[in-house]
Order: sequence, then structure tokens, then C-alpha cells
Amino acid sequence: MAPEAPHTLFASDNAAGVHPAVLEALVAANQGHALAYGADAWTARATAQFRDLLGVDAEVVFTWGGTGANVVGLQCLLAPWQAVICPASAHIAVDECGAPERFTGCKLIDVPTEDGKLRPEQVERELHGVGDEHHVQPRVVSITQSTEMGTLYSPAEIAALADVAHANSLLLHVDGARIGNAVAALDEDLRRVIVDPGVDVLTFGGTKNGLMYGEAVVFVDPALGVNAHFVRKQAAQLPSKMRFVAAQFEALLSDDLWLRNARHANAMAALLAERIAPIDGVELLHPPQVNAVFARVPAAALAPLADWSFFWVWDQEQSVVRWMCSFDTTEADVERFAAGVAEIVAAHR
Ligand SMILES: Cc1ncc(COP(=O)(O)O)c(C=O)c1O
Repeated sequence: MAPEAPHTLFASDNAAGVHPAVLEALVAANQGHALAYGADAWTARATAQFRDLLGVDAEVVFTWGGTGANVVGLQCLLAPWQAVICPASAHIAVDECGAPERFTGCKLIDVPTEDGKLRPEQVERELHGVGDEHHVQPRVVSITQSTEMGTLYSPAEIAALADVAHANSLLLHVDGARIGNAVAALDEDLRRVIVDPGVDVLTFGGTKNGLMYGEAVVFVDPALGVNAHFVRKQAAQLPSKMRFVAAQFEALLSDDLWLRNARHANAMAALLAERIAPIDGVELLHPPQVNAVFARVPAAALAPLADWSFFWVWDQEQSVVRWMCSFDTTEADVERFAAGVAEIVAAHR
């Protein structure tokens, strides 16, 4: 019989609940009336916090969700004959039901990569049709930090992509659904990972890092976000009671909660990797860089493992799984999960 399952899921950082400080901030914001659509004190304060973190007067707009944030950010940068160069594994390319294409009207040029990371030479290879009316015109390079494959760009790698983009009149968009995990893992600050390397637009994720819901789109150069409010409304991403999104961000950005949450999730992934690496039959694909662990397990163990403690199989053909840790994953959860993996794999080799 398998041991007791952990109390949290390793399926996704989206499976976690809300950080208590964020929930408290929601309750505290539930006092009296405040004007809707962002004309409230919480939105002003959270916006100021973002500007402080970045060290620039960015335009910041809050949205309901991550797909919506990507749509709003990208649409502000694009005309329908233009295109976005992104890794083939990008969330915008595979997991957003075509929303970026539908809203922007633009083609995504999705480039296969080994590790979810785009390289400058791959961007350059996609520029052959520039100026030719028969080709879409690349206008945006979009990367994810940290990536869907649990990898990280260094600030220098981001700068190299920004340089090649800007040299060719393109802009650099970063899907930062997990930007906290990235900044924590790099032991940097947001400015050095985003502003200094030359990122133009960042979506800053909250939901995977302790919020109930809510993301922010950050236009480092506010001129790029001049139409963001109109675009957001058309994209159905304007929360009327904005104070409840902003209050969550205010809590997340206070006392480095976003970094503390992310650091913890990353540390739990490191511990999980340490525990599962020695298990016979389990192959750790690479040491985790952020909060995701990728491992190969015997094919016969996939279903029994997921029946015991649910997760999604990352690559059925390769028998590869992705296990993710959250801000509230405990060491006891990790120990229990690793013990269950050892037992179930031993029984299904
Ligand atoms: C890399 C990335 N971008 C964006 C999102 C946002 O998705 P959602 O629209 O579900 O909030 C996710 C969620 O899984 C993601 O992993």
C-alpha cells in the first residue's frame, strides 16, 4: 500500500491557495466604498511599488489573468501584419487557445528550442522577410522567465536578446508568470533582470506566487502602454473592483513577500530533486533552476503515481513528469511525496 499522500499537490503552482497575508489584505480592502476601475488608493500604491522596484516610471495595468496580461501587453505593441518570435514551448504559443493570435491578429513564429530558451541567432534567422510585403513583419520577441521548462535566462542572456531585437526595430516582451521564481533564483532584483537588460514589456505574475488572482502588465517605457487602458477593456481584462487586485499586489510586493514565496518554492524543488535523484528507476533530467522538477519515471509507474498524488505527465512518449512546488509546499510534503515515489516506482519497474 502506498504511503499517505502529501497534503499539497505537486501538479502546479496554480494548485496552491492564497497566501495568508494576501487574504488579509483582501479583507482589509473590504472597507467602505472606493471608486472602481483603478481610481482607488490601492491601485495607486501598488503602481508606485512597481515603479520603485523597477526604478523607472513604468506604465502598470492590472489584469485578471496571465493569458489576458499577455494579450494586453502584446496587443499594445503590434499591428496585424506583424509577428511575434517566441520559443515553440511558450505559453502564448501552446497554452492560450490562440488568444494572442486572435486578439492581435498576428502570427506567432514559434521556434523549437532544446530548453525553452530562445537564442539571439534564432531571432536573427527569422528576420529574412523584413521589408517584403509577402511576409509578416517580426515586431516582438517574446520569452518566458522562468521558462515553461523550468529554465532561466541570465540578465546577460536577456540583454543579448534585447540587443538583437532593438538592433532590428523589434521589442522584447517577457511573460513573467513566474518572474518571482526567476528573480529569486538569480538572487537579483527586478531592475537588474528586466530594466537594465532592456526588456520593453513584462507581465508580472501574481497568481502562481500567492495571489487569489491577478497579474500586472508593466510597460517599462510608458509610451509603449499609451493605449493599454483601451486594449485592456476590449480584451475584457479590466476588473471593475480593481482595489481587490491591487490590494493583493500591495501585500505581495511588501516586505519582499513575492521573493520570499518564490525562494521557498524554489528551495522545495531543490529538496525534492535531492530526494528523488537517488531513487532507482527515477532519472532527474536536470537540477531544478526554479520551482519545477523534471524527471523520467518508468512508464508503468505514471498512472499509479498520478492516481496516488495527482500531477500531469509532461511528455508521455518520454515518460517525463513535471512536479512543481509552491509557496506553501512544506518539507514534510516533499518527504512524503518522495517516499511515495520511491515505493510506487519500486512496485512498477
Ligand atoms: C508561462 C505562463 N504564462 C502565462 C500563464 C497564465 O495563464 P492563465 O491565463 O491561466 O493565468 C501561465 C499559467 O500557467 C504560464 O505558465
